[in-house]
Amino acid sequence: VAAWQFRVFARLKNWDHQPRLQGLWGKPRESITTSWGVPIPEKDASLTVGYHGQVLFQDWVLIDELAHFSRERIPERVVHAKGAGAFGYFEVTHDITQYTAARVFSEIGKKTPIAVRFSQVAGEMGYSDTVRDVRGFAVKFYTEDGIWDLVGNNLPTFFIKDSALFPTFIHILKRNPKTHIRPDYDMFWDFISLRPESTHTTLMMFSDRGIPDSYRHMHGYGVNTFAFVNSHGKFSYCKFHYLSNQGIANLSSEEAQRIAGADPEYLLRDLYNAIETSEYPSWNLYVQIMTPEQAAKNPYDPFDDSKVWLHADFPLIPVGRLVLNKNPKSYFAEVEQIGFDVAHLIPGIEPSPDRMLQGRLFNYGDTHRYRLGINNTQLPVNSPFRVNNYQRDGRSTIQSQPGAPNYHPNSFKGPENDRRARALTPVLPIQGDAQRIDNGNEDNFSQPRLLYQNVLKPDEQGRLIENIISWLKNANSVIQDRALLNFSKVDEDLARRIRQGLPLGSQPHIDL
Ligand code: HEM
Repeated sequence: VAAWQFRVFARLKNWDHQPRLQGLWGKPRESITTSWGVPIPEKDASLTVGYHGQVLFQDWVLIDELAHFSRERIPERVVHAKGAGAFGYFEVTHDITQYTAARVFSEIGKKTPIAVRFSQVAGEMGYSDTVRDVRGFAVKFYTEDGIWDLVGNNLPTFFIKDSALFPTFIHILKRNPKTHIRPDYDMFWDFISLRPESTHTTLMMFSDRGIPDSYRHMHGYGVNTFAFVNSHGKFSYCKFHYLSNQGIANLSSEEAQRIAGADPEYLLRDLYNAIETSEYPSWNLYVQIMTPEQAAKNPYDPFDDSKVWLHADFPLIPVGRLVLNKNPKSYFAEVEQIGFDVAHLIPGIEPSPDRMLQGRLFNYGDTHRYRLGINNTQLPVNSPFRVNNYQRDGRSTIQSQPGAPNYHPNSFKGPENDRRARALTPVLPIQGDAQRIDNGNEDNFSQPRLLYQNVLKPDEQGRLIENIISWLKNANSVIQDRALLNFSKVDEDLARRIRQGLPLGSQPHIDL
């Protein structure tokens, strides 16, 4: 693309600020160098023996260039591969110190820098932004007590509630291993209908919220149950909600399909341009609190992430505001290399026995060690304000803690255990028999029924049904039957209307 063409393109896309265009206006340009900083005499010609001669092995400029190029890609995230990132701050607006001693919440008005990554779940890096899917909404808080990662989604619940099911659940959203086609409707509906705990989140995914019109116009939810500890050591369970101040906006399936072809980067572009033109999006952060006594008596499992905590019983308590006001300078360095880890919790915030959360506590750090390397927390975007420990070395070490002892205990003023963190570590009374119990069959239909009958308006119910039909009509009739049976347990009318919409020839056998 000629330079002027690129400039016109940049202006159209509102990317006029690209610093690498500055050279076009007569500013002196710096010399190109190799990756080890040596000036290059001729970038665009390899070192050959004569005009038609072979390229010399001593052409290290070329070898450096080609070798770097063939290593430009790192493994993409196994889920949530496509995403957009931005930076900003979190500001405390309400006092919740009665629940948690986490310093990020210590006083009203306190601001903490944050990084956010929004994402699609199922597709690969080049996938279109407007395909029906759950969206990720992960927040990294750079707190004075280290990194806290709140890795949430735009729906308040999840399809499954035991991490043992996660890899195969993800397989049904990905490509068929034989045909390489996705979505594979048989795979999808087979699993969904065999695991009825997925019904609640499936209804949400096929509702209008399955295709947000922008990342700015969707809510976020921590989904899993966490716990708080206050400065007196009092322990309570909590869930996080971050509600959009822009309101909710979604795309119809038809419009989403058109945009998928016309502008596959629709959500990415929207976020980037909004921030670039100073329309800074924000979300209000809320928590729900459940005491251990309430948890023991609660009629449904408070650690089951396929269910919400009913707001009537556990109201939203306001906490603060998340604001995004800065775009990344380098997508790769700051968005592709950002690593959110559910196990990155700070004193005052603890995990709960939520089985999905327990699996997630392991999996994110593990995937970062694979995707980004053992020193991934030393990358600038992942790095806390300070690290004092006895870990050293490993591939791509950036920070070496020079001069400090590398063993513990020691007599040389190396870092010691933190008393405050110790005081905030809860003593948990845990007992029971170790066993494998499938928790998939615990009242999977009351909450989807509430959603369908009490939350969705008639027009929203209609679109939900249309959207389900558009996928279910492609599945095998035995699988359709099973899916309909589950929907009939949510609401007879829902199942009947879905069945009526299935085209002739794929009519299922059961009588509703
Ligand atoms: C990303 C595993 C459940 C939200 C990921 C990644 C893995 C993973 C391996 C890729 C991370 C990377 O390469 O950086 C799991 C497992 C789960 C689980 C094992 C269940 C046992 C969930 C749930 C949510 C969620 C319930 C929503 C609350 C996300 C988000 C990302 C992500 C938002 C993208 C983070 C980013 O933007 O980099 N997950 N996940 N996951 N997961 Fe999960």
